[in-house]
Amino acid sequence: MGSQEKPVEKIVVRGLEGVVAAETSISYVDGVHGRLYYQGYDIHDIAEQISFIECIFLLWNGRLPNRRECDEMRNAIVGEMKLPDAVLELLKASPEKSHPMAVLRTAVSLLSCFDPDADDTTPSANYRKAKRLAGQIPTIIAHLHRLRNGLPLLTPRPELGLSANFLHMLTGNIPDELEKRAMDILMILHADHGLNASTFAARVICSTLSDMHSAVTGAIGALKGPLHGGANEKVMGMLHEINHIDRIQEYIEGMLENKKRIMGFGHRVYRTEDPRAKHLRKYSELLCEKTSQKHLFEMSHRIEKIVFEQKGIYPNVDFYSATVQHALGIPAAYFTTIFVASRTPGWLAHIIEQYSDNRLIRPTSKYTGEMGIPFVPLGKRG
Ligand code: CMC
Repeated sequence: MGSQEKPVEKIVVRGLEGVVAAETSISYVDGVHGRLYYQGYDIHDIAEQISFIECIFLLWNGRLPNRRECDEMRNAIVGEMKLPDAVLELLKASPEKSHPMAVLRTAVSLLSCFDPDADDTTPSANYRKAKRLAGQIPTIIAHLHRLRNGLPLLTPRPELGLSANFLHMLTGNIPDELEKRAMDILMILHADHGLNASTFAARVICSTLSDMHSAVTGAIGALKGPLHGGANEKVMGMLHEINHIDRIQEYIEGMLENKKRIMGFGHRVYRTEDPRAKHLRKYSELLCEKTSQKHLFEMSHRIEKIVFEQKGIYPNVDFYSATVQHALGIPAAYFTTIFVASRTPGWLAHIIEQYSDNRLIRPTSKYTGEMGIPFVPLGKRG
């Protein structure tokens, strides 16, 4: 390579850690103090006080709704929960062994083909699509689970509220007060989280002025990975694998010695406890006790203690969300899809924010390949 051809020296920030790639007023993750804010509200002040509907309204409008606005928003979203026949057929046709996240990702992509506003990216069309997606995504998840288990499909019960209705459409049970609250808190805590990998993926996609369904489809693909939303399912697998509280010490030490990741622990931004874990720990304990599965909470608590002693890292949102969801009767294979349904309003808020002040997101890379290799025509290559 001639010296004049050398690429300009560039510094790579691996994993884009600490890189500021967007401005947002939707949520703020304060990793130093372990705080999370939605539109200025501390998550600790609102998580136990608001409903998922209020949370969606807050993320989309920058303020909390009044009662009339809550009812309007809930009715608008529930009114959009019916799926096009073709999407239902896709759920039926999906191979039994395919992961629900793969089916959900494909179904959301297919939804765009039936959306009257599909390629219209004006603010009013985006708001209509946002309400549609917030309604249709939970239906896809609930219907897929019930179809695969030969159970009748359920129609929405709006009087239950958005999260409890979703749980009902999935499990068939009418949740009691504790379950309703737990489902609401679970969905509120997952609703948004700064420029996480899936939200960034969504913003990158719509920064090309591609459509909302494409951005949400891409975000689902990003969330699916075990380093992001896929961790919650793995946590349940780990609890089953360990199986007994007496095996925890040996299991965790073995994992760490072999440089393996403990799922549901660690975070790119938090240097202290993830504030969401605090609420989920509480509901994990309450629900495990209620469903006579106290051992699952006790095991989780012991794992938390040992991982901190050994590695100095804290549980993230995915750790206690696993036992919360399990105790709510949600099968582990669907845990990450519940994360999708919860995070969708956050993604949609970011997509709308990105469109409102868009510039193509197109970073650069440090080239590490060769340059100036002499060309040999096909016929002369050995
Ligand atoms: N288990 C064991 N060691 C860990 C873990 C873990 N879960 N997380 C981080 N570490 C260690 C890592 O080995 C490294 O140690 P050392 O300096 O001794 O080599 C140090 O902590 C820094 O790790 P890193 O890979 O540079 O951290 P990162 O910011 O790139 O990764 C993470 C963040 C979330 C991908 C990582 O903590 C992880 O893999 N966690 C497990 C998967 C998980 O729970 N994901 C859910 C994330 S939160 C919810 C969401 O956003 O979806």
